[in-house]
Amino acid sequence: MPVDRIKSLRKQLELLNHQYHVLDAPTVPDREYDRLMQELIALETDYPNLITKDSPSQKVGGKPIDSFRQVKHSIAMLSLDNAFEDQQIIDFIGRVANRLELNEQQVLDLKFCAEPKLDGVAVSLRYENGILMQGASRGDGINGEDITHNVRTIANIPLKLLSENPPEVFEVRGEVLIPHRGFEQMNERARLKDEKVFVNPRNAAAGSIRQLDPTIAAARPLRFYAYGLGEFSGIELPGSHFERLIKLSEFGFNTSPGTEQVTGVAGCLAYYQLIQQRRDNLEYDIDGVVFKVDELLKQQQLGFVSRAPRWAIARKFPAQEELTTLLDVEFQVGRTGAITPVARLEPVFVGGVTVSNATLHNADEIERLDVRIGDTVIIRRAGDVIPKVVSVVLARRPDSASKIVFPTECPVCRSEVHRQIDEAVTRCTAGLYCAAQRVEALKHFASRKAMDVDGLGDKIVEQLVAENIISNAADLFTLDKARLISLERMAEKSADNLLQALDESKKTTFARFIYALGIREVGEATALSLTQHFGSLANLTHATLEELIDVDDVGPIVANHILEFFNSEHNIDVVKQLIQVGINFVESEPAANQQTLPLSGQSWVVTGTLDKMTRQQVKEQLQSFGAKVAGSVSKKTTVLVAGTNAGSKLTKATNLNIKIMTEDELVNFFKNIKDGELE
Ligand code: IVH
Repeated sequence: MPVDRIKSLRKQLELLNHQYHVLDAPTVPDREYDRLMQELIALETDYPNLITKDSPSQKVGGKPIDSFRQVKHSIAMLSLDNAFEDQQIIDFIGRVANRLELNEQQVLDLKFCAEPKLDGVAVSLRYENGILMQGASRGDGINGEDITHNVRTIANIPLKLLSENPPEVFEVRGEVLIPHRGFEQMNERARLKDEKVFVNPRNAAAGSIRQLDPTIAAARPLRFYAYGLGEFSGIELPGSHFERLIKLSEFGFNTSPGTEQVTGVAGCLAYYQLIQQRRDNLEYDIDGVVFKVDELLKQQQLGFVSRAPRWAIARKFPAQEELTTLLDVEFQVGRTGAITPVARLEPVFVGGVTVSNATLHNADEIERLDVRIGDTVIIRRAGDVIPKVVSVVLARRPDSASKIVFPTECPVCRSEVHRQIDEAVTRCTAGLYCAAQRVEALKHFASRKAMDVDGLGDKIVEQLVAENIISNAADLFTLDKARLISLERMAEKSADNLLQALDESKKTTFARFIYALGIREVGEATALSLTQHFGSLANLTHATLEELIDVDDVGPIVANHILEFFNSEHNIDVVKQLIQVGINFVESEPAANQQTLPLSGQSWVVTGTLDKMTRQQVKEQLQSFGAKVAGSVSKKTTVLVAGTNAGSKLTKATNLNIKIMTEDELVNFFKNIKDGELE
């Protein structure tokens, strides 16, 4: 009977949908899903009177609507009060405690449901007898717009609740958003078609659900995360908000990962720190965290004030984007001659710090942004990433704005500059004849992960080069006390210390030495591979292209940089002089190698359940990068890797302000180390 087959197909597809889109854990290949869906569509085409609203075939987006219908929310969709400082959280909890007449101990024990504040668009979904009947936007909180046709197309919104005995009425509230990856892909496609790109994922999500034609929303990578309830009847729900969220996931919804029950002021403040640390590694934008008094009875006692509940507050992150003025552009010359335009800005507080410089990357970027001196620009500083100019506010361009002229000669040594056809970077061609490149090469040579010369700061290197006292790395070892004392701000004691540090640095490892030479694209990991492969300086300096390519991590480009480096007579001279002044390599390779590894000197702790790697694999991987793996968290812990259900170690690490990584972040981190991106 077609009716029975249709029923069975729908049931299977609902389950597969849930596994794929909500649980992110598919159990069958995509092909099988497609086959079942095709069969269902074919049957529904033959028997159109059997099509129902909640059939999985209805997700693709139906016919456009003519206009938006107004929807009155039976329970208002509220907004939240904002807090921008810890003190405002303390005050909020104080107000809650006063109203609830809690004693000191009760305040300390007060439970909150702590959730990431998702940066998307609020939506309310109404289910009647388990079937999705209506989707509405927030509007002014009282009246919204009917967007049922669009929400039905969102992959992780169930058309039917996962329940044998669904409640009569069940309104789910949450946020619709677009994850970063989907956003990038969507904009990439728009660019290819010469269409308008969206400024950010939130605008894109808002734009998508406000379309009359549902096929547009269906084509966008929208997702829904539930964070609360509106009206409901015919169901008994738990008295804790946190437990209600668990109930929502049982009904088939995604709730925001990272939601936790926390206790008291300390729990809230630690949670804010934890989520702030995770922010840059999340798949979507969040703009803060939300704290909700967890107990429903207490929420009812507290009630509302105007449009916001007294039982909840949003702790916002510092803004990551701000407006400021571009005052000037300077061109810096790096170690490899790369000329980087640097924006000098009217200082502005963004991403938690005051920013007065931002990178403009290269000439293409200046052209792409069409940025001019005097423009009002949007600066973005996310996490620890260097601040960048995101865009220009053209409407505010003053008449006096002037074009940025990329230099045709090196701003430091006046030599010719060159840009290779397939490269975005313009470089000074003078190599170590350029004082800027010499300074940068020397800074790199002395840096911690290279020769580790304690006390040879940037300012000293700059002076030594500017006054022509040294011109290459070998000259560093010919410095004497009298020379050093003649420098500005160099006391006798510092001069002694520096000479001693230089002397001590002579005893190093082969890998550190090769890294210190500053060969283009030879980072720590490549230096280590090279030294392990060739075993001696003579073998490495005489290696052929084929031999170099044979080394792990070395491709033709890096191999050519290495060849070029050792083909230069000047470089070979400096290397020889360095060996002559007494640089020698420590024999005991394994111990010596430890020091050059990216995580040497660090202590890591792993806790909770991991699902992508075993504990042992993580441990071995960390150790292979030079880290120690300890069993308990202490002040000396560098990073805590927290899997799911991490308990007391996570609390302790949070209290000690220790960096915390999720398993996904760790996997990414390993990948970055292997790619040699880790500085
Ligand atoms: S609860 C009565 N929880 O923030 C409380 N809102 O500024 C109503 N939002 O309109 C909201 N993540 O769009 C709540 N975990 C979360 C949230 C969240 C994002 C948005 C929501 C709301 C706005 C209020």
